[in-house]
Amino acid sequence: MTPLHVVILAAGQGRRMQSSRPKVLHLLAGRPLLSHVVDAANALNPARVHVVHGYGGGIVREAMSAADVEWVEQREQLGTGHAVSLAMPGIPDDATVLVLYGDVPLVNPDTLHETTTLAAGGDIMLMTVVVDDPRGYGRIVRDPDGHVLGIVEERDADDEQRTIAEINTGILAAHAGRLRGWLRGLSRDNAQGEHYLTDVVALAVGDGLSVRTVPPEAIEEVLGVNDRVELAALERFQQRRLAENLMRDGASLADPTRVDIRGRVSTGRDVFVDVNVVFEGEVVLGDRVNIGPGCVIRDTVIERDTEVRAQCVIEGAHIGVACAIGPFARLRPDARLSRDARIGNFVEVKNATLGEGSKASHLTYIGDTRIGRDVNVGAGVVTCNYDGTRKHETVIGDHAFIGSGVMLVAPVTVHAGATVGAGSTIGKDVPADALTVTRTPQRTIRGWKRRRKG
Ligand code: UD1
Ligand code: CA
Repeated sequence: MTPLHVVILAAGQGRRMQSSRPKVLHLLAGRPLLSHVVDAANALNPARVHVVHGYGGGIVREAMSAADVEWVEQREQLGTGHAVSLAMPGIPDDATVLVLYGDVPLVNPDTLHETTTLAAGGDIMLMTVVVDDPRGYGRIVRDPDGHVLGIVEERDADDEQRTIAEINTGILAAHAGRLRGWLRGLSRDNAQGEHYLTDVVALAVGDGLSVRTVPPEAIEEVLGVNDRVELAALERFQQRRLAENLMRDGASLADPTRVDIRGRVSTGRDVFVDVNVVFEGEVVLGDRVNIGPGCVIRDTVIERDTEVRAQCVIEGAHIGVACAIGPFARLRPDARLSRDARIGNFVEVKNATLGEGSKASHLTYIGDTRIGRDVNVGAGVVTCNYDGTRKHETVIGDHAFIGSGVMLVAPVTVHAGATVGAGSTIGKDVPADALTVTRTPQRTIRGWKRRRKG
């Protein structure tokens, strides 16, 4: 099989973004534009992906350090042809080269696959599309029989050519050895004084090759991002698509336009997601999970039959089967809940495990804590895990009952079956199966009068 090399052009500064951040690092569905393109390229199983960067190259490389790509620097932007030619030394002659763009994020691997297989046959492949308003784009010039003759840029086009509605998306695939030759033959004799990649098409035609064109399935696949208005439009398109995927996989959305997915969500069947929910990172929802309105859920697994009520913020948690969370609960990284656990309103849980059937229903902080099964944590309980320098652990055994307003000063262990009386401050281990209480005696001063104001 012909090896595939993908060249992603990403050297543009993107002035119209009005940003100090390189354009390709702006986020779409929670990820940099460029990482969408790299993922689409990788879906084609290429031998190598080459990214041509320029402005903000160091920042781009750092932000994309997890991506397995070849970085190529283009110091001066001398045109798309020049940019591709810089990547060519790393590409063998027998390869197929596919050119993509760091600011065209929603390219579809299926369409690209078709493009590259056709190019492997020796022809040059262009992705083109007919649009209502072709202004600004390169136009596809064909002979009367419909054969492509070349591409003419808007600024170099005559009045007649400007009426052509078929435009160049910029996505192109060609045989590497031939492309290398054509790139050497490019001149800068044009309106912008640049090496146009698009000129290789006429050179290919001159060599007797035929040029084939492939349309995208949806126009959004080939739309570039030039400013924040275009970015927002693509974001809505992508969100709609992600919401539809989620519905097809078995989740009902109260309103598909009011859920945002900034990462990947996998869903079981008969899941329900209410309005204004934001998913980030990797989220897994089991069968019949119910997510209330206004929740933010990041990098979390929620097992089947669990209900997350309104306005919860959940990050890095693992929630077991048939739990009930919220409303207004906050689960922070490494909150791990076993089945039937309950976390109520204004409860914060961080790096803590709750055993089966354990509950903390109101106004409580549970941090660095191991809680056994069937434990009841009353209202206003605090695990005082931080002494100003270090974090300490609290351990609470099975069937313990922690009364309201208890301060558990860690490190401390409450043994199984213990009851801790309301309002106690506990700094020493609590024995099993007994009542422990620290409370100053209540006094009443009779005849005492409150001072009056004024
Ligand atoms: C290009 C095409 C045009 C097509 C349009 C689609 C050329 C000559 N023209 O025009 O036919 O209709 O895209 O959007 O190719 N880039 C570099 N280095 C450079 C120049 C550009 O990396 O030296 C990158 C830019 O970051 C950008 C992309 O290539 O992502 C396209 O460059 P741009 O200058 O926007 O090309 P257009 O004039 O829009
Ligand atoms: Ca452009």
